[in-house]
Amino acid sequence: MKIVTIVGARPQFIKAATVSRVIRANPGIREILLHTGQHYDENMSDIFFRELSIPLPDYNLEVGSGSHAVQTGLMLKGIEEILVKEKPDCTLVYGDTNSTLAGSLASVKLHIPVAHVEAGLRSFNRAMPEEINRIVTDRISDMLFAPTQTAVDNLATEGLAEITHFTGDVMYDSILFYTDRIMKEPGRYATPGIPERYLLATIHRAENTDNPEILGNILLAFSRLNCDIVLPLHPRTRKILQSTMELPSNVHVIDPVGYLPMMKLTMDAVKVLTDSGGLQKEAYFLHRPCITLRTETEWVETLHDRWNIIAGSDPETIVEAVAEPLPSSQPQPLFGNGKSAGIILEKLLSF
Ligand code: UD1
Ligand code: UDP
Repeated sequence: MKIVTIVGARPQFIKAATVSRVIRANPGIREILLHTGQHYDENMSDIFFRELSIPLPDYNLEVGSGSHAVQTGLMLKGIEEILVKEKPDCTLVYGDTNSTLAGSLASVKLHIPVAHVEAGLRSFNRAMPEEINRIVTDRISDMLFAPTQTAVDNLATEGLAEITHFTGDVMYDSILFYTDRIMKEPGRYATPGIPERYLLATIHRAENTDNPEILGNILLAFSRLNCDIVLPLHPRTRKILQSTMELPSNVHVIDPVGYLPMMKLTMDAVKVLTDSGGLQKEAYFLHRPCITLRTETEWVETLHDRWNIIAGSDPETIVEAVAEPLPSSQPQPLFGNGKSAGIILEKLLSF
């Protein structure tokens, strides 16, 4: 069986690392890796390939940044050419980025079956580009790999139950796989020069970065938190902050880091403040309370016992959420058994 895996953005490299490792250990599958080039900075792309031993992409379209239409259009054209040449039995796409949309659309138009990892997530907020990408990709895919029961239920509501498989979350597999490595060599993955006690923050969602009032409110909240904040800064946010805003003095900006240093930063943080989908879950897996800087989450399981608090961008709500006591119960094991990639492999082989 020949598969073309299509990735392009940071979270997809992390997810694909886990699935590719399992797929490539099976002699029944040959995987071709296609990188759209949506993310291209060394610390947004190459670092993950090196650190997580992901095989180098067979193709890199190098589409780079652009408007949604330009970026997606360039990807569609490039992906189609490669699929026509490679003639795979199916394509594998991840998550909800423009690379996911372009990969699934180019594939289905060539009658090549699509398998979607992390299917069924819904924010029910159609203003998010990711929500549109998810809805379209799920609708045109042939196999839907759902990470949570909520995702399974969402797909059933949309009439997609027959092609849905509950697999668990490959990001949970990933945490289990790499935590040991970090624990064995904590010094190697520690970020130098950061304060001892800190909150970890990330901001990159369009709805936060592209609205100066919202971004200003989040920064105002940060300035009112009586704690240092470590902020590995996404290039999108860096560009906006550079041109328009000043950061509060308790915020320590660092460049984006690799996955293992990021997990070490998360483990050692007092709490996490983020608008990232992946980081909300990682905080939950690593038992760090999370404050979500959005008005909703797709990962509703993490809201259990206020391990994750939806705070939006209101400064007072954010400050109050950070001040809340620690949850009294443990996070629940609702993201599979750490063997999601194996289940995905099995389903692909039996398709
Ligand atoms: C994309 C995804 C988002 C995902 C995020 C993960 C879409 C619509 N959005 O958002 O769902 O959560 O990736 O990080 O697909 N840039 C660089 N260097 C890079 C990459 C980006 O400088 O290597 C800058 C460019 O100015 C670019 C901006 O960041 O215009 C946004 O990049 P883009 O890939 O369009 O979207 P993300 O915000 O990264
Ligand atoms: N991440 C990372 N380095 C960073 C910031 C994030 O490795 O400097 C990881 C993070 O831990 C998670 C993934 O990138 O595994 C999430 O990516 P991002 O927040 O960009 O996208 P999202 O998950 O929101 O789509």
